[in-house]
Parts: sequence; structure tokens; C-alpha cells
Amino acid sequence: MLHGRKILLVVSGSVAAFKALMLVRLLRAEGATVRAVLTAGGARFVTKEALAAITGEHVSDDLWAAEAEIGHIRLARWAEAVVVAPASASRLAQMAQGLAEDLAGCVLLATRAPVLAAPAMNPAMWAHPATAANVALLAGRGIRFVGPGEGPMAEPESGPGRLSEPEEMLEAIRALFAEGPLKGRHVLVTAGPTREPIDPVRYISNHSSGKQGYAIAAALAAQGARVTLVSGPTSLAAPPGVTLKPVESAREMLAACEAALPADAAIFAAAVADWRVAQEASQKLKKEPGAGAPTLAMALNPDILATISTHTARPKLVVGFAAETERVIENAQKKLARKGCDWIVANDVSGDVFGGGDNTVHLVSAAGVEDWPRMPKEEVAARLAARVAEYFQ
Ligand code: CTP
Repeated sequence: MLHGRKILLVVSGSVAAFKALMLVRLLRAEGATVRAVLTAGGARFVTKEALAAITGEHVSDDLWAAEAEIGHIRLARWAEAVVVAPASASRLAQMAQGLAEDLAGCVLLATRAPVLAAPAMNPAMWAHPATAANVALLAGRGIRFVGPGEGPMAEPESGPGRLSEPEEMLEAIRALFAEGPLKGRHVLVTAGPTREPIDPVRYISNHSSGKQGYAIAAALAAQGARVTLVSGPTSLAAPPGVTLKPVESAREMLAACEAALPADAAIFAAAVADWRVAQEASQKLKKEPGAGAPTLAMALNPDILATISTHTARPKLVVGFAAETERVIENAQKKLARKGCDWIVANDVSGDVFGGGDNTVHLVSAAGVEDWPRMPKEEVAARLAARVAEYFQ
């Protein structure tokens, strides 16, 4: 798939920069041509010589020298994809600001090719609101992300921040080139449960595993779509090439969905909590001797599907899920009308669905009802993605 592709790799400053060398190996093994731009920070961790040897190409690291040689515009035009790996916190901030102070900054501004960023930084830096805001801004502009993952890091700290493995980055680069009927389309997908806080240590949630939503996101990406996956807490990794926006509460999920618009289609597979605790306690609730159990007053959560269905930037195709245990079709048809969406995937949850591998669904729309046989969630996802692709043809 990558044979003959021209990939520009921007290596910025991170102790994980050695993985960029391994990525080059994998890309070249697939027949891609890789040129590298080394930032000043990147040069602290890998040498220009190592990158040149492994890419088999001249490595650019100086804006002014590059002007004399090929120029940043030519380099930007040459690339069919630009991969920033590792993308340091500082590089993401520079990209968000559109700073063109070095060769990498100029190329990233000048390119019209798809850009993939593989963040790598300390977990606290990744969690910082400034980084989160930069990532949200970049994702909104269509920059794709892979990772970061969790796992052993240079510092004895844990949490997300670790550069994705070379194989994961390769998968995400393949996804950039994914040809398919949904190429050029942006699809928003929600998945997983939401968590509604009671106090700083307790929450209300549900058993949603997120499997169905993640499988849908992966299937849409495989059809060539750019996918934003807004997900509540799950144990699943973002599918390759899919931009994951992790959220916790329903209100956060709604805000992330609105921030992800415009989209051509939106598929709401999340099991959103219908209610939240009206007043989240700022301190942990304590057992007072003799006081008995507390009563939690609840408030209604926003309906994300209904809100996006009537949004001024409503996606052309809006798909909801309906978890039903009885009168599946009848209830789904009512839900279709009530929520203002185009299709409902009616999910028969009378069996063991949550966390299981299979699903029995019916596709309900104004045009009628299609009964799909019981099948693995990946197959439900592939069929649904194929139907979305048909819709846009
Ligand atoms: N949904 C949502 N926001 C909510 C609640 C639900 O976006 N606050 C979406 C879900 O992602 C799903 C659909 O709406 O696509 C499910 O609707 P819901 O009214 O929650 O129905 P069920 O859970 O299926 O069942 P019930 O009507 O019994 O609550």
C-alpha cells in the first residue's frame, strides 16, 4: 500500500526519537521513500548521520541551508504525507500556533499533504490543559494522531505519553493512504460508557465496553474516512488512523462532539448515562455516624444524539443506537422520530451483549427495517460502514 509513497518524517525532541529510526526501516521495507527533517530538539536524541543512513536520503535540519538546496516549499510539496514522530509538547504547541521559525515549522505550514502526529512526552505534560487544547485545535484542523500509549517511560512515571510503537505508527500511516469510498469524509463516532461523578472518588457508570463503537470507527477508517472517536473510559486502544478524544462525563462528551463538527456523518454508539448527580460534591462524602445513607438528587443529562441531530452544523447522516429488550423495532422507530436521526441501529440486548463479541441488530430508517443476523461486532461495524459509504455515493 505504501509502495512508491513519499513520506516526510519530522523528528522532534524526545528520548523516544530512536523509534523514528525503526519506523523508517518499516516504511522503506514497504517501498516508501522517506525524507527526514530533524529539529534542533530531535538532534539531541538522534544524529543527522543516523537518519541519513537509514533513510538513504539527505536529511534537512536547517531552514536556511534548505533554502539553498531545495527549499521548504519544494520539500512540503514533495511529501504525500507528513509524519511528526515523535511530536514533542513544544512541537505540538508550535504547530497549533502555526509558528514557522524552523524548517519543520515552515514545511508543516506549507504542506497540503495529510499530517500525522505521534505525541511523546511526560504524562503530566500530556495531561496539561495547554497540550490538550493544542491537540484539540490540531485535530479540528484535520491533523491525525496516533497514540500516545501507556507503558514504561524514561521517567519512573506512568500514564499516557509514551510514543506509539513503530508498528502502530506504520498502521496509522497506512490509514492516511487508505483509499476507499469514504475518502475525504469526516465521520464522528461516540463509544463507551460515560462516568458521572458523585464526589472526587466515586462515580455512576454502566457496563458498556466500547467494542461496538471502536469497531465502527475502525471500519469507517478502513473505508478511507477521517474518523474522530469521542469515547468514554474503556480499556481499548484507538484503532489505527482514528483520532481518539477521551472524555468522562456526558457533558464532556457533548462538548467534544460539538468541537468535532463539521462532520459528514455521525454515529452515536456510546452508552451515555441518562442522569448525573445534580451536585457533584467537591470533597469525598463521609459516613457520618447515625446519619444513614445519603440521597443523591439526580439531573437529566443532555441527549447528545438529539442535540447533534438538530444542530446548525448537523451532519448529513446521523445514526443512533437503541438498546432494547422488547418490542425492538417499534421502540426503535419511536426513537428515530423522537431524536431526529436518520437511522437507528436497534440493538437487541435481551441476550449477553455488553462486553460480548456478538450483536444482533436491525437497521431502522424511514425507508424500512433491515434485520441483520447475529454476527460479531466487527462484522456489524463493517456492514454499517459499507452502508454509510453507499449513502455518500
Ligand atoms: N444518547 C445520547 N445521549 C444521551 C443518551 C443517549 O447521545 N444522553 C444516544 C446513544 O448514544 C444512542 C441513543 O441515544 O445512540 C440511545 O438512546 P436512549 O434514549 O438512551 O435509548 P436507550 O438507552 O436505547 O433506551 P431508553 O429509551 O430505554 O433509555
